[in-house]
Amino acid sequence: FHVDWDLVTAEKAGFDHFMMKEIYDQPKAYRDTIGSRISEDGSRVVLDEIGMTADEIRRIRNIHIVACGTAYHAGLVGKSVIEKLVRIPVEADVASEYRYRAPIITPETLVIVVSQSGETADTLAALREAKRSGARVLAITNVVGSSVSREADDVLVTWAGPEIAVASTKAYTTQLMAFYLLGLYLAQTLETLEQAEIVRTLAAMQSLPEQVESILARSEEIKAYAEKIASHEHLFFIGRGLDYAVALEGSLKLKEISYIHSEAYPAGELKHGTLALIEEGVPVIALGLQTELIEKTVSNIKEVTARGGEVLGIAYEGDNELAKSVDRTFSIPRTLDLLSPALTVIPLQLLSYYASLARGNDVDKPRNLAKSVTVE
Ligand code: AGP
Repeated sequence: FHVDWDLVTAEKAGFDHFMMKEIYDQPKAYRDTIGSRISEDGSRVVLDEIGMTADEIRRIRNIHIVACGTAYHAGLVGKSVIEKLVRIPVEADVASEYRYRAPIITPETLVIVVSQSGETADTLAALREAKRSGARVLAITNVVGSSVSREADDVLVTWAGPEIAVASTKAYTTQLMAFYLLGLYLAQTLETLEQAEIVRTLAAMQSLPEQVESILARSEEIKAYAEKIASHEHLFFIGRGLDYAVALEGSLKLKEISYIHSEAYPAGELKHGTLALIEEGVPVIALGLQTELIEKTVSNIKEVTARGGEVLGIAYEGDNELAKSVDRTFSIPRTLDLLSPALTVIPLQLLSYYASLARGNDVDKPRNLAKSVTVE
């Protein structure tokens, strides 16, 4: 696998770093990944690359999602999406754990492996274990012809284009697009969702690219906040439900390129221990995009501010309830709560980028890390 660095370098397209180029690639990557997978009339998902017949889909009794790192975080969103839309039990697991815990796999199990590179050793080993046990394997990957794509039964390709920066951005968000499309495809096949709801969700998906563009246009707001927190050694992300899944991804991004220790926590868990770490001036980022959980999240935010924690709230434009309980807010355009991870993660990607810059780190090639972990 030879990288033509002259060509790749030329590919920076005027950005200072590949990571920023790839963050700004996302609107196009969303459009390319959605591509022709939504019918012209916007009424249904078309996934010709999935070879499973409707009968084979009806025979699925449980789903395992297996991946590493950021791809695993996409899998956590995928778990919520599929369980909400299809009501089939889904387990999400990191590949290095999955392959050694004698997972319970039957011919009615669908195993979904997620891997940007398609070469991650643990993920590939998990795929092989699943096939040995008779499961059907579906791969979500960004590299056509990768080992994972060659060995899976079905492949859903994310059309993000080459991702060079070690910290994954557009691969993660296009994995989310793939999970939304897959979840809706299963729902329409199994008729677990009203047609009107499918149409509404597909329409909201089509609006995501320009909503990402509107967030990127305000990256200076995030740059200012990143420079404010760059000198801190500890930072916490809190959220509930899908917001917690995104918090995990935001925390990994910040750790791996700024080297600031951070932790993502289910907001409801603070009082079970982590709150002991909150003291005067500790930065906390609270995600409040799950409408039915806002009230609970606001009370968790109050637990933090009462101990001197300084909270940045991520909320929908116009959501004053969360805004009035935090020190500062970054607002995102309103979308369906289910789709909000595709927008909420953007400010968190920008935060990690600017914090890494502020600390003088090598943004694209952070210490100790490789782009693809092909060894165990
Ligand atoms: C993400 O920013 C990291 N670079 C890392 O966690 C990565 O997501 C993980 O190694 C999985 O890689 P893959 O998607 O190529 O399998």
